[in-house]
Parts: sequence; structure tokens; C-alpha cells
Amino acid sequence: MSGSDTVFNVKPGGALHGAVRVAGDKSISHRSIMLGSLAEGVTEVNGFLEGDDCLATMNAFRAMGVSIDHHGEGWVRIEGAGLKGLQKPAGPLDLGNSGTSMRLLAGICAGQDFDVTLTGDASLSKRPMRRVTEPLEAMGARIETAAGGTPPLKIAGGHLLKGMDYVLPMASAQVKSCVLLAGMYAEGETCTTEPAPTRDHTERMLNGFGYSVQRQGARACLQGGGKLTAARIDVPADISSAAFFMVGASIAPNSDITLENVGINPTRDGVITILREMGANIEVLNPREVCGEPVADIRVRAARLQGIAIPEAQVPLAIDEFPAIFVAAACAEGTTVLTGAEELRVKESDRIQVMADGLQALGISAEPTPDGIRIQGGQPGAGTVQSHGDHRISMSFAMAALRARGEIIIEDCANVNTSFPGFVELAASCGLNISQN
Ligand code: S3P
Repeated sequence: MSGSDTVFNVKPGGALHGAVRVAGDKSISHRSIMLGSLAEGVTEVNGFLEGDDCLATMNAFRAMGVSIDHHGEGWVRIEGAGLKGLQKPAGPLDLGNSGTSMRLLAGICAGQDFDVTLTGDASLSKRPMRRVTEPLEAMGARIETAAGGTPPLKIAGGHLLKGMDYVLPMASAQVKSCVLLAGMYAEGETCTTEPAPTRDHTERMLNGFGYSVQRQGARACLQGGGKLTAARIDVPADISSAAFFMVGASIAPNSDITLENVGINPTRDGVITILREMGANIEVLNPREVCGEPVADIRVRAARLQGIAIPEAQVPLAIDEFPAIFVAAACAEGTTVLTGAEELRVKESDRIQVMADGLQALGISAEPTPDGIRIQGGQPGAGTVQSHGDHRISMSFAMAALRARGEIIIEDCANVNTSFPGFVELAASCGLNISQN
């Protein structure tokens, strides 16, 4: 079965065991294709995430004339075209479900001398794009959106960009990255200032490709007109994918799992901080640095979790992990309160509403608020939940079954392939009683 028909059936109980490597980091995989394509020389990538989102980025650069070899198993070889070497694609670039592809590509395409149209699937077509088109237009780009500021984005080529000093209105790595990538094509200096720290993979990787980004606190600056030099990239496992297993092992009695080679960049490690504050037993082992990114093995054992008020400073550092954290909260003692997280409403789905609906369907008291949620811990019951095609919702509810009283059925799960192909098989091999049809 395929498409929106994919359903997960997860039987209650079990525990997670073993030592596993989860899927490659999505954010780093996207950026490896983007910078590798714009670099001079040949870039080799290992551990590339073979998910639909990153493949959409790869196909977009292929459509703009970049020669990319890819034989599966996470190995990619990119013949860089140079910053000025992209070619006009034959048609619109379809970025599927991937917000990262669309927002970062908008910055790159704004600097080209040809027109490009960026499109996406039903979910992406509803997501806000003015957050990138406004700063790009202030730099001199010309971009048309649909009414409401949503995709498709029609980007007119041949407009000279001027560097700008952009103060971001929201904590968004996609917006920051978009502006910095456009800045490579702009005259003079481009700077971003963010209201709170967000993932800094773009800044790190630009420096790794020899394009100097000056960073001081919340500010990152680069000069236009530089060049990127090909590099070798080893992509770590994605902490966002590891998060499902961290939560699963924490809530399932007798679990003891080690997640190998996980990226623990301090702009991404909020899930560890939050779960530990809830009482989780998480050990970070063998910390090391790989290609400019901190990496470690993470051992998680079952623990009694308590509800907490999640510190707002952790929100951007765990922005993709809240569906999983809500499942931890649903199995904790007491109440968990999240505030300051209105960004969750404009992800692949409205993650506050969709999670509240799903938790309620399992008998958990979950009260959505405009910028967060209030969850009263307990034991999830049996039930059917709708993922609304959101990969992270599907995988989070799958883990909830480890502590549930009955079977959990999750609908519309095909998009798990956007970030974690092989999730069902890997989770089953660790002890989750999951099957799909
Ligand atoms: C991402 C940034 C985050 C995150 C997304 C990936 C990135 O979005 O939710 O999954 O790779 O830059 P925002 O920066 O919009 O919060």
C-alpha cells in the first residue's frame, strides 16, 4: 500500500533494546547537497539521509544542471557547478513536503539570473513563505507568492541583490539560512540577528566549505562574492529521529537502548535537556567532533518521568521534537505545560492541534493553547489517531504504544519516508510491536 493509505498498527507493551543507528540528519543532508552543488570541485557525502525531503533537494539541483551521483546507502558524489554555475530548470521545482528545501532554495534562487518556480505538496502549499520572501525582496529579489503568502514561489532572475542587516522576527534557522545563502550572491555584507539560538548547520557548513561566516552571539555575517570549495561530509544520525527512541525507551519499562553516532549540536539538543528535566535516564557517551559537528552515542534507559513546565529557552532547541516530547508528557506523572511554541502550528501540520486531538483520542487530557499545550500525564488507551500526513506525528504515536493499554492505529503515515525511511523495520527490530499496511 502507498500514499496516504499507509497505516501503522502498534500493539501495546514491549521495551526498546539494542544499539542502533537511526536515519541521517535531515538538515545537514539538505545543506550538503546545496553547498556541494554550489562549490568548486567534487563533494562526497556519507550518511546522507535517503528521505523524500532530501531527495527533493537533490532533484532540484539536478534539474538546475548539477551532476550528482547517488547509489543509495547514503553515499553521494556531487560535481560542484560553482556559485554561478546553475542552469535554468526546464520546469517548476517540486519540493514535495519539504519546507527546508523551499525556504533555503528561495535564498539561492533569488541570486540566479534565470526565473524559477518552487512548488510543493498540499501541506507545503499551506505553509507561510513571507518570512523568506520579505527579507529577500528587501535585498532586491522579485518573488511572487500565492495569495496569503504561500507557495508556489515565482522567483524572477536577474535582479541584483544588496547585502542587508536582517533582524529575524522569529527564531527560524530556515529564515536565517535563506538570508545568508542569498547573501553569498549580494553586494557587500549580509548579517542576520536571531531572537534566540537556532540550528547553526548552515554557518558551520559554510565555514567548512571555506566561505567565511563571522559569528558573534546572535549575529552571523558574511560578505557576498566569495566562493565555496568542495568538502567531504559525514552526516551524523539525526537527533530528531533519535528522539522517538529516546522517548520510547524512557516510557517503556526495562528498556535500554543506545543510539549511535547522533548529532548533538548544542542548537539541537533541547530534547535531551527537556527529557532529563522530566527525569529521563540519558547518558551522552563518547562525545567527538565529525566534520565540524558534535556527535555522540546516546544511551537511554527506562525512567519514571514527571511533568514539567518546559523552559521557553528550550523551544527552538527542540522545535521538531515536541510531538515526541508530548508523548513523554502523556506518560509522565503530573502536568506538562508548554508555552512560547506558536511555531509548532505552522510545521508539516498544526502540531499543537493534531497532537492534542491524537492524545485525546487515546484518553489523555491534552488542552491546546495558542502557543503551546497542557498535558495531564496518565496511561494512553487504545485508539485510532490521524497523523495528517505529518511524519513526526506518526512516529511519536507509534512510540506511545509502548505504554498504552491497547493497540494504537495511526493513519496517513506514508510521509514517514520524508525523514526516516526504514523506521518501521528499525523500530520493530528494537522491540516495538509495529506493523504497517
Ligand atoms: C530546519 C529548521 C527548522 C525545523 C526544520 C528544519 C532546518 O525550521 O523545524 O525541520 O533544516 O533549517 P524553522 O527554522 O522554520 O523553525
